[in-house]
Amino acid sequence: MAKYPVVVYGASGYTGMLTMDWLIDQQIPFTAVGRSAARIKEMMAERVVRLESAAYEIIETEHSVESLSRAFKGAKVVCNTVGPFCNFGLTTIEAALNAGCHYLDTTGEQGFMTEARERFGELYRQAGLLLAPSTAYMYTFSEIAAQLALETPGIDALETAALCRGPRFTASGVTVGSTASIFELYRQKHCYLWENELVEHAFGTQVNIVDPNFVQPVFSLPWGGTSLPLFFKDDPRVRSCISYVGFYDNDVMKTVHALGQKWDAEYKDLPKEHQDAVIKGIVESTTPSMPPRERTTTQRTVDFAIGRGQMAAVRATVHGITSYISTGALQTAAAIKLIDNDTRKVGFASACQALDHRYLLGFLEQRGLARATVQQL
Ligand SMILES: NC(=O)c1ccc[n+]([C@@H]2O[C@H](COP(=O)([O-])OP(=O)(O)OC[C@H]3O[C@@H](n4cnc5c(N)ncnc54)[C@H](OP(=O)(O)O)[C@@H]3O)[C@@H](O)[C@H]2O)c1
Repeated sequence: MAKYPVVVYGASGYTGMLTMDWLIDQQIPFTAVGRSAARIKEMMAERVVRLESAAYEIIETEHSVESLSRAFKGAKVVCNTVGPFCNFGLTTIEAALNAGCHYLDTTGEQGFMTEARERFGELYRQAGLLLAPSTAYMYTFSEIAAQLALETPGIDALETAALCRGPRFTASGVTVGSTASIFELYRQKHCYLWENELVEHAFGTQVNIVDPNFVQPVFSLPWGGTSLPLFFKDDPRVRSCISYVGFYDNDVMKTVHALGQKWDAEYKDLPKEHQDAVIKGIVESTTPSMPPRERTTTQRTVDFAIGRGQMAAVRATVHGITSYISTGALQTAAAIKLIDNDTRKVGFASACQALDHRYLLGFLEQRGLARATVQQL
């Protein structure tokens, strides 16, 4: 049973520990939960800053609904960082509901989110709890840009892009959990929102995005469709939303795209166990260990949304740095409100929709993690 209001599940992981950094910064006591107390202790001692001044406890538990429900009971908010979420997320969502907790996670996996909404959205709503997946750099930054664009009356069509400096899979920059989640995308549908319906991207979709921040077009992919089409599906202001992700400083995205083509040609129809082995092999060969803490000199992002209406047109841009550190900040910003049940929405909703995109942007801006501009076109 948790004795503190916020649970961080995946406490030995890169993003879980960055979330704890921010909780400590904000003087919020927390319960660190994971499958090995010894590993959590060791990793926290190595990576979490200001631990000596933190109020926290560690709970070891297996990954099952029963054990996690017991571990979460007593808390108010669960911050879940155990991914790939298509493998582990639904169990954690069910446990958080059983324990009467609001639920946040760091997924960007559209297929998992669709299932979470269908299976648990209404149950969370009835319980008066928020189910807010994807409270993370991807895709809260893009959604903040989209929500800023939607402040202009008449906007009903959105195109968004998350453009990041590309990961160097073998040296630094991307975690084991992220790499596994990226390659799991091959198995998922990638949808965009078109006239209020979710429509599957054509196989092999790629775009070259031109943005005033860059001299050259940025090779980009639907990247699983992103979270935004799902979040905007029931927004009466929005008829369509198409989102992309690109890496602007290297060719990693082209490699990922080529692997996607190979997946379709060779692995798509294999039994799940064979596919699991293929993904495991790719993850092990690309991300051998946990990367170092991000640096502001290297980890930078540009997320933008173009909004159009009949006459109105607007471009909103959010410049960011250190996307994993920012993810920890977003989890903490959301937890601060949810500890007090201060949410505009319950059930399935994004952090922007439930907690206000201006609040989240302000939290990031005040800490030097983001800067937004809005330009009428
Ligand atoms: N959308 C975004 O912008 C964004 C940003 C950051 C992270 N993420 C996502 O968040 C997830 C975590 O990323 P990360 O960087 O923190 O990865 P990570 O460093 O690899 O951490 C993964 C965590 O999950 C735990 N875990 C793995 N398998 C488990 C299992 N079977 N049972 C219980 N716990 C298990 C690990 O515990 P052990 O230490 O015991 O193995 C670890 O605590 C990924 O899916 C990633 O894509 C997304």
